[in-house]
Amino acid sequence: MKDHRVLSGMRPTGQLHLGHYHGVLKNWIQLQNEYDSYYFVADWHAFTTHYSDRINLEENVSDMVVDWLATGLNPNTSTIFVQSKVPEHAELHLLLSMTTPLSWLERVPSYKDQQEKLKTKDLSTYGFLGYPLLQSADILIYKAGLVPVGEDQVAHVEFTREVARRFNFIYGREADFEEKAEAAVTKMGKKQSKLYRALRKSYQETGDDESLVKAKALLGEQQNITLGDRERLLGYAEGLGKIILTEPEALLTKASKMPGLDGQKMSKSYNNMISLRQEPESVKQKINRMPTDPARVKLTDPGDPKKCPVSQLHQIYSSEETLKWVNEGCTKAKIGCIECKMPVIEAINAELEPIQENIAKYQSNPNLIQEIIFEGSESARAVARSTMEEVRDAMGITY
Ligand code: TRP
Ligand code: SF4
Repeated sequence: MKDHRVLSGMRPTGQLHLGHYHGVLKNWIQLQNEYDSYYFVADWHAFTTHYSDRINLEENVSDMVVDWLATGLNPNTSTIFVQSKVPEHAELHLLLSMTTPLSWLERVPSYKDQQEKLKTKDLSTYGFLGYPLLQSADILIYKAGLVPVGEDQVAHVEFTREVARRFNFIYGREADFEEKAEAAVTKMGKKQSKLYRALRKSYQETGDDESLVKAKALLGEQQNITLGDRERLLGYAEGLGKIILTEPEALLTKASKMPGLDGQKMSKSYNNMISLRQEPESVKQKINRMPTDPARVKLTDPGDPKKCPVSQLHQIYSSEETLKWVNEGCTKAKIGCIECKMPVIEAINAELEPIQENIAKYQSNPNLIQEIIFEGSESARAVARSTMEEVRDAMGITY
């Protein structure tokens, strides 16, 4: 439960839309009740692809936090912060860059993909190549166990695991590691030490994963040992050195089912989105302009909902009953497309109404937003600082 830490970030490159809400935010909001959750605005990451665009970062960052809060992210349950307010991310990024092979970065799929997709931009920068490593620093500095991301980011989490493993391998071998680990085993008390030793032996001699899982659980329960010792003993059980950086796992968010106005995935770059701040009248116009099954030229022409993006929206917003009405009405030419779109317009506006009310409330209180960002960032920073102490220690930067 709360002993797992969740972390995820979003780049402040534009307005949040219904795709973000259904695909990302609802998931974050649910996770915050189950895990110790960290959510941040990846403002430095915005520069990796938008360094020459004069995007209004200040406005984007605060709008993003406002939209998060308005949809239900809770600053009392989650730690909400801004990347650049925790400069330790940059220090870890730099130090990790010393051990990360260049070829690992060149091999990350998004590197070539994005360069091809965003041909008009010059992405042959050092910062863009290092994008995934900065992301690794974001994750590792909080020792996050779970990283909720979409499919396109899974490779970055995998990469982060490798970066952590390599770092631990190189710097986790303190000169007196074995002695320290043995001393820590003794501190657990007779019975527990015996159990730990048996599990360690079983894992190392037979490769029995179950034993390793049990050893980890056992370490999790110990009250008498320090965090440093626990990390030492985790590594000791696995036959490695001290585990300084935790390998995270991707928590794959199911592909957002939220279609855009043209039936493709909703995305800013396809210009097919409805923003969380879209006014009701404008939602109506956008939906009314949506293309429908081209076979329905006249009202009397029957259509096929499978060929119509409006019906995809019905799938998300409508009851069984309405779906039936759409199906019948469309295939038997009993309803017109404008009529068919009405319930969708109503449902979207009903969904947005409370969100927009909240947005207005937060907008009228910019100090509160500043305060939430400040406090969240300070509390994130305390965790980041403590990880950096361990990292510097392991690397011998202790003078
Ligand atoms: N790269 C992510 C994206 O574009 C944003 C991001 C930056 C992130 N740092 C992160 C996501 C750390 C998860 C964890 O969506
Ligand atoms: Fe699409 Fe509805 Fe028109 Fe059928 S009636 S084509 S489902 S908008």
